[in-house]
Amino acid sequence: LLFYESSTRTRTSFELAAKGLGADTTLVSSLSSSIEKGESLKDTGLTLRALGAEAIILRHSSSGAAWLLEAETRLPVLNAGDGMHEHPTQALLDLRTILAHLRPGPSIGTEAVNAETLSGVTVAIVGDILHSRVARSNMLLLPRLGARVLLCGPRELLPELAAAAGPSIEIERDFEAALRQSQAIMMLRIQAERLSGMQLDLEEYKAAYQLTGQRLAALAPTAVVLHPGPIIRGLEITAGVADGPQSAILEQVRNGVAIRMAVVERALTAATEKGGRA
Ligand code: CP
Repeated sequence: LLFYESSTRTRTSFELAAKGLGADTTLVSSLSSSIEKGESLKDTGLTLRALGAEAIILRHSSSGAAWLLEAETRLPVLNAGDGMHEHPTQALLDLRTILAHLRPGPSIGTEAVNAETLSGVTVAIVGDILHSRVARSNMLLLPRLGARVLLCGPRELLPELAAAAGPSIEIERDFEAALRQSQAIMMLRIQAERLSGMQLDLEEYKAAYQLTGQRLAALAPTAVVLHPGPIIRGLEITAGVADGPQSAILEQVRNGVAIRMAVVERALTAATEKGGRA
């Protein structure tokens, strides 16, 4: 596990997933390793490979870092979040959670998904879309299963261009209109660490985009509420909603372990089949 950015959910669930499959894991974090002394991503990866790593799970602040590390090490590299680019396993666990709520039944978990699985379902992604790798991965995944994705947020955090990201993706600036249309509502944290000097009026933001119990009860009383975490209580979501009956936030966390077991197993199996080190 090679982590250049902090993480609670992704790191812990990848570790539990790998250990659950019988693998040994070791954590290398940028703050307590020779990365602090200036060692490059490539040299760190080659060092881990020399030490016996058969796969690397990477979180990095630069878009494309996982691709680069895989090219340099020729090991399976699992993307645990690369900058503002992608967070694929988060989108998969979000999908798993949405399916469990919107298509409940005994077959969930074994049923194959297809291009119609989420047809008729609208998912609102709300808040800091600009800096969100979670939003980007969900924008790639959910329309492939037939979902309509509504992006909602102020212009500073949601440029007009975002609607051109793919099919079935629209912008709805009015949060209350987005809530009325959605069966799943994915709230996002404002990524203060990536704002680069951008000034936001937080009181104005809360007035327009905070998910409150009152808004939820009036406009989306049966929708499932998601958040990739970490949540900032009292900013994008109230404590009452985060802890309330429509919240699936901790269920998302739990689903992360099974999803990550699946992708770790797939990566190691594919490497074995290719005659790789695994
Ligand atoms: N959702 C998510 O990536 O959380 P962490 O940053 O805690 O891993």
